[in-house]
Amino acid sequence: MAFTVLALGGDGIGPEVLEASLKVLDTVARSARIPIDLEEDLLHGAAWDAYGVLIRPETLERARRADALLVGAVGGPKWDDIVIEGGPEDQDGLMKLRRELDTFACIRHARAWDALIDRTPYLPGRVHGADIIVMRELCAGAMFTRTRGMDTTKSGERRAYDLNEYTDEQIRRFARIGFEIARRRTGRVVSVDKSNVFIAGKLWREAVDDVGRSEFPDIELTHLFADNAAYQLACRPADFDVVLADNLFGDLLSDQAGAISGSLGMLPSACLSDLPRTGRVQGPAIYEPVHGSAPDIAGQGIANPVGMILSVAMMLDYSMGAVKTARRLEAAVDRALASGYATRDLGGTHSTAEMTDAVIREFRSL
Ligand code: NAD
Ligand code: IPM
Ligand code: MN
Repeated sequence: MAFTVLALGGDGIGPEVLEASLKVLDTVARSARIPIDLEEDLLHGAAWDAYGVLIRPETLERARRADALLVGAVGGPKWDDIVIEGGPEDQDGLMKLRRELDTFACIRHARAWDALIDRTPYLPGRVHGADIIVMRELCAGAMFTRTRGMDTTKSGERRAYDLNEYTDEQIRRFARIGFEIARRRTGRVVSVDKSNVFIAGKLWREAVDDVGRSEFPDIELTHLFADNAAYQLACRPADFDVVLADNLFGDLLSDQAGAISGSLGMLPSACLSDLPRTGRVQGPAIYEPVHGSAPDIAGQGIANPVGMILSVAMMLDYSMGAVKTARRLEAAVDRALASGYATRDLGGTHSTAEMTDAVIREFRSL
């Protein structure tokens, strides 16, 4: 049976990096002998311009039926002022997808590539070997709260609010996947919160701690306050393995951790709603780079496709069960970088297409 991929380029550089990753997918899926049934559709701004909605019901239906989604990036100034009745997910096509598919566990991977160490802000000794997973809770917290709005106080001043709320189970189900990921790595987890200030932070710490102690006693768990975690990540990134964070802290820390790789354009993610101990994930998962639509460089053919290509590697790994092919694709990226290929965000001169072709050549040669 074919593996069904729904590809949604979105906006800005989204369609450019998606195109690059589909070229790569074509090569790697043939090599792994996995037939792909590819569907493409519009998302967010592109869907708004074509259909007057940020995501069509048909697109959501196709997403539910797909094995995996590849998403480029969404958003841009042109669509910033659209206001739709409903919750936060109704204002954003990608957030709607995350919510509808309940992909609450987002795995964001940052690593220090030897070939790029001189292009990072770090001294080589500080960053060599750094490899960090920031696990971001993706379907709750302040970003999906119903308790949000803008009103006017008695004194006539505008007041705005977005409640950062979590239920015990929302934290626990997320923590389980985080610990499971840690088991596949070196088994060290740092959970991040502001339990010194926020009640939601206290619940976060208690729930993560309890899941850790009772279900994953083999995993070393440390708790850090989020401000200190940001500082420690900046100073000693090579000491981190898996970081667990809520939706908002995870959004910030996954970009921050990305500094070790030299560019936001290098970072992939997998957004899952389950992770079995063995075998591939069953529910539709979303694979997307961590970066946004980069309106400042859109349309120039210079976007770094690596974050999107490495998202394909994560799809091979988690959803297709093609673990060896996933590692081979990552090795191909490594070799393309080592042989000097670099897009402009990394200080190089290669185009999106040249970088992509270099990765494909290296993949074939491995
Ligand atoms: P951004 O990630 O789009 O860009 C930040 C900077 O990084 C820009 O200078 C950009 O040129 C550069 N950059 C990002 N990805 C790159 C790549 N692949 N290659 C080369 N350079 C790259 O973040 P932003 O500027 O804060 O946001 C722009 C728009 O993207 C906003 O509308 C925002 O809401 C949206 N956004 C979407 C996502 C997503 O779809 N997952 C993520 C973040 C931001
Ligand atoms: C990300 C982005 C998104 C988020 C935006 C575009 C909704 O910053 O995927 O990291 O905040 O989740
Ligand atoms: Mn972000």
